[in-house]
Amino acid sequence: MPALPDGDPAPEDGRLPDGLDWSRPLRAYVHVPFCRARCGYCDFNTYTAGELGGFDTAGYVAGIGQEIALAARVGQPQPLASVFFGGGTPSLLSADELGGVLRQLDRAFGLADDAEVTMEVNPEDVTPQAAAAWLDAGITRISLGMQSADLAALTVLDRKHTPGGAVRAAELVQAAGFGHVSLDLIYGIPGQSDESWRQTLLAALSAEPDHISAYALGVEPGTALARKVARGEIASTDPDRAAAQYDIADETLAAHGFQWYEISNWARPGGECQHNLGYWRGHDYVGLGCAAYGTIALVREGGRLPAPASARRYRNKTDPQKYMAAALEGARAKRLEDKGRDERSTTEGSSEDLDPETRLRERIMLGLRVAEGVDLEASAAELGVVGWTKERRRSADRLGKKGHLVIEGGRLRVPRDAWLFADGISAELF
Ligand SMILES: C[S@@+](CC[C@H](N)C(=O)[O-])C[C@H]1O[C@@H](n2cnc3c(N)ncnc32)[C@H](O)[C@@H]1O
Ligand code: SF4
Repeated sequence: MPALPDGDPAPEDGRLPDGLDWSRPLRAYVHVPFCRARCGYCDFNTYTAGELGGFDTAGYVAGIGQEIALAARVGQPQPLASVFFGGGTPSLLSADELGGVLRQLDRAFGLADDAEVTMEVNPEDVTPQAAAAWLDAGITRISLGMQSADLAALTVLDRKHTPGGAVRAAELVQAAGFGHVSLDLIYGIPGQSDESWRQTLLAALSAEPDHISAYALGVEPGTALARKVARGEIASTDPDRAAAQYDIADETLAAHGFQWYEISNWARPGGECQHNLGYWRGHDYVGLGCAAYGTIALVREGGRLPAPASARRYRNKTDPQKYMAAALEGARAKRLEDKGRDERSTTEGSSEDLDPETRLRERIMLGLRVAEGVDLEASAAELGVVGWTKERRRSADRLGKKGHLVIEGGRLRVPRDAWLFADGISAELF
């Protein structure tokens, strides 16, 4: 997910405002911040056992249980359309712990009958027993971090699995009964030739997943990879090479029956990730666990509007121990005698209210990343704002003439040969 602004500090009572509108599809993201080792390129909110003094997975899961109970108390829970366990390394939780979180979500919100439940898994954690236990626990979809089939590329990335490990892992989870399997790949790795990238794509396809994500390697500030690049030990990434490798991915995947549906995502028909599609379509989601983001639509005071206008976005405390301490306190009021006032704990680190205009801008930005595009007129009507302002119409026409935007009635989408410019195109629309 793209980085979001930190926003204002959370209110001390940690409660969401009255009037939350839970009537639209609701989804849940659960962040698991543990990793055995930090890969040199990764700047996600993750911690090793050494940094945390061990992995207190039971304590963390108990904290999530408390947060679920709080989230269900402050709104009108409705069945979750999807759940996504992301990380970090969710496969470091036991199947019992994962199943326990799902049971709590089911009790608090309900899980839709056809709910998609995805779990990110590191290939080295897959065994036939683990895969069977994940299926029993209620996971329906596995997303494996393969990255590359090339040993040299895996070494640049500091990954622990062997080149064939992810393909074997995909085969094992399929043999256990998983019908939905996705593989994450990375291109634009320094030293990675086009041929090596093609071989990685073919290796991934040989595992017969129904979904593949391919990300351009980002050299993120503060990572070991960035330091090695700065010292000249590893060449910097080449944007032209990465663009060429993106095209190779699209051609290779299309030739094997995969359809592009988001900038970095391809699927066989029916294999699209419903959870992420919901995010790109602007659905609401409850974020659980440290550093998780959530966004819930609000209705104005005095009653429900026919459509949700504003929304509240929050981000939980990023530090797992601070998150756990706050969550375990259960966001209960706690009188601090010495301060003489009520002080309540909250799992939120920060939050902000998004007005309808901001929400429309986000809908357009996210919608232009997906092949289906975004229905500007329907979104604007739903949010109660003007979709086609004069300026937006002018920008859209200008982008259309350049071949960067297709306008079909109220719907906007970015054509195939302009996908790489999607973010710049949405910026120009404002
Ligand atoms: C944050 S990981 C979490 C799941 C799991 N631990 C794993 O490594 O697969 C999810 C995916 O993000 C992608 N990713 C992380 N850092 C990246 C970077 N700097 N550039 C490109 N992709 C990145 C990787 O493809 C990875 O599979
Ligand atoms: S890429 Fe995955 S395994 Fe590696 S540090 Fe990031 S979250 Fe952990």
